[in-house]
Amino acid sequence: MAQRMRTSFERILLCVAAFALFAACGPAKPGTTPDAGVIAAARQPDGWDSDVALKPAEDVNPDSRIVEINLEARVENLQIKPGLTTPVWTYNGTLPGPLIHAKKGQRLIVHFTNHLAEPTTIHWHGLRVPAAMDGSEAMQSPVQPGGTFDYAFDLLDSGTYWYHPHINSSAQVGYGLYGAIQVDDPDEPADLGDDLVLMLSDMGIEADGSLTPGDQSGWFGDYFGRQGNTLLVNGKVMPKVRAKAGAPQRWRVINAARARFMKFSVPGQKLIRIGGDGGLMTAPQPLDVVLLAPGERAELFLLPKHAAQDSVTVQWIDPDIFHLGQVGPPIDLFQFEVTADPEWKDGPTAPPAALRTIDPIATDGAVQQLLELTEQNTNGNITLGINGVPSSQATPLMATVNTTEVWTVKNTTNYDHPFHLHGFFFQVLDLNGVPPSATEWKDTFNVPANKTMRFAVHYDNRPGMWMFHCHILDHADLGMMGMLHVMEP
Ligand code: C2O
Ligand code: CU
Repeated sequence: MAQRMRTSFERILLCVAAFALFAACGPAKPGTTPDAGVIAAARQPDGWDSDVALKPAEDVNPDSRIVEINLEARVENLQIKPGLTTPVWTYNGTLPGPLIHAKKGQRLIVHFTNHLAEPTTIHWHGLRVPAAMDGSEAMQSPVQPGGTFDYAFDLLDSGTYWYHPHINSSAQVGYGLYGAIQVDDPDEPADLGDDLVLMLSDMGIEADGSLTPGDQSGWFGDYFGRQGNTLLVNGKVMPKVRAKAGAPQRWRVINAARARFMKFSVPGQKLIRIGGDGGLMTAPQPLDVVLLAPGERAELFLLPKHAAQDSVTVQWIDPDIFHLGQVGPPIDLFQFEVTADPEWKDGPTAPPAALRTIDPIATDGAVQQLLELTEQNTNGNITLGINGVPSSQATPLMATVNTTEVWTVKNTTNYDHPFHLHGFFFQVLDLNGVPPSATEWKDTFNVPANKTMRFAVHYDNRPGMWMFHCHILDHADLGMMGMLHVMEP
């Protein structure tokens, strides 16, 4: 009891301290060097994405069936905040790393070199790769400093994905190691707007420009999740996205923060969600507010229109994941401006009512798995875990290839946990008995405090050891992680 009271009190203190930091950070000037590789669609206004466009990875293989790239993890001095130099951990020197843009069915080959001072790996978040390519510590020995590793796999699914390390991942992701992957499907509805990948994150940057240590505040940092004091959109502080009235944009939003949930709306504009983690969903879903847990993605259709104010600040809204009943002030994220250009009249003005066909996974006779997300106290030592034990004491779940399971994931704690399964998409059946309004492929799903989510998953023929964990990466470190061994019969 004393322990519980103490943690609640300290939790509040920590929140107060965090708000103070945010307030001190405030809005700053947008980045000054627009990235190369800007693909400005004719109907968008000049420079519409020049602040945020991601540099595409260079494909060194002329074979159209293969995308082959070189990726280097290395520290690069970048100016993230005006006047400060920050030694960011990068892929190929940029924050985020290069955009891997490919087509469904292509093979991706990545020659990876580790120029960091510590071991790392790359995990291809959401992609259905063979287990040996998954980059988790369960399947790959770490790439040592100076070492190399070749990743190679086929891109089986369209959608918006991302890559990040899976060793010391909370610290390494927080230092800047993340990049986006966009896989296009030539068979999807023709025009869903002009693509814009927006990777949302945060970074702890000290007054002298140095990075806040990834293990700052020890146990408290793990428990509350480390939220950097600087909010970033594609590595920039408060960049600007421009739009022309009537010219649709398709935002592919990725939450790459190690712990921060991203909640926002665009004042004066309507957002329609058309996809999530694993590409398009079956039907569009109008949204007032977008909420993305760490690791999750959303594809949004935005038809810009003139509003009371044509230049608005999109702000991060406190999602109150600890359910304290009090929210902190909003924080500026990016600027959205509808230009004075004449309105674009050639549509489309809305996404089609039927976006994609996804067959529901048949669950008759499915094996049931019950998982509880737990907080446990062993002699005053509070850890997070699954089914009452931290990952260090857990035994793997066993499953068989070519079978279907239904997982019940019950959050028994008083705060939210985004549940992530490696290797296989799942379909959410219900959250506390309420089914989702449309069908979609998920790999990360926020299970709110004291709620229960059920999902169906089919294991295709990719045997191996797969991880599942809370994607608040600090929570994974504190033990909320487990393993799934998918075996051949
Ligand atoms: Cu994106 Cu195991 O994580
Ligand atoms: Cu968690």
